[in-house]
Amino acid sequence: MAKISTLLLVYSFFVLGFSFTCAIAKGPEKSWHEAFCQGKETTTKLHFYLQDVLGGPNATVWEVAKSPISNSVTSFGQIRVLDDLITRTPNPNSKKLGRAQGLITFSDLDVSVLNMNLNFVFTAGSYNGSTLTILGRNQIMNVDRELPVVGGTGIFRMARGYAISNTYSYNVSTNYGILEYTVYVVHTDVSKVKNIQMVMDT
Ligand SMILES: *[C@@H]1O[C@H](CO)[C@@H](O)[C@H](O)[C@H]1NC(C)=O
Ligand SMILES: *[C@@H]1O[C@H](CO)[C@@H](O)[C@H](O)[C@H]1NC(C)=O
Ligand SMILES: *[C@@H]1O[C@H](CO)[C@@H](O)[C@H](O)[C@H]1NC(C)=O
Repeated sequence: MAKISTLLLVYSFFVLGFSFTCAIAKGPEKSWHEAFCQGKETTTKLHFYLQDVLGGPNATVWEVAKSPISNSVTSFGQIRVLDDLITRTPNPNSKKLGRAQGLITFSDLDVSVLNMNLNFVFTAGSYNGSTLTILGRNQIMNVDRELPVVGGTGIFRMARGYAISNTYSYNVSTNYGILEYTVYVVHTDVSKVKNIQMVMDT
């Protein structure tokens, strides 16, 4: 008897809790909230390149501030804003996937390190209009740099994960860099949602 009432209590708690949480959103937001409430997640791997133009008339990276010691070897204190093209392959004329926009700050007195605050703004295919946000430490002379993915919007709502970044190439005479990014991201997946009735039945 005690066992049955405990089960009933757990069951009602689950059902009530579920209804309460998922009753928040109506209309177009409903299925996303259902997916979120049901813990429906998916892992997506993304692989792309950034066209990092540091010089010339079409530069996409610009200095906006610096400290009295920014001319040192580590550029400490220099702040740059960037709006880099994201492409499918290293070739700048390959398919355009979006832009990488944000702020980088040289923030290590001893080695070249960037504090990255970056949004990947996707404009292609099913990711069109979705964003991913990167926040972290980038020791740019290392081969593979790991950066945390701290969030996202659209398809990537509630995203968390990590990115591996490396310098694919850098042309010293033109100041043109090509950066490779591989991103692993876990996020809510609306396509996996079941209706509430099915969840209550299990
Ligand atoms: C800069 O962009 C313009 C317009 O797209 C282009 O005509 C020009 O060749 C570019 N210059 C360089 C150095 O890439
Ligand atoms: C991306 O979405 C915008 C706004 O809805 C639309 O104007 C544009 O054509 C879309 N681009 C692609 C490649 O689907
Ligand atoms: C750098 O760019 C210049 C001008 O486009 C080109 O002539 C040169 O071959 C490039 N260097 C490398 C190492 O790719």
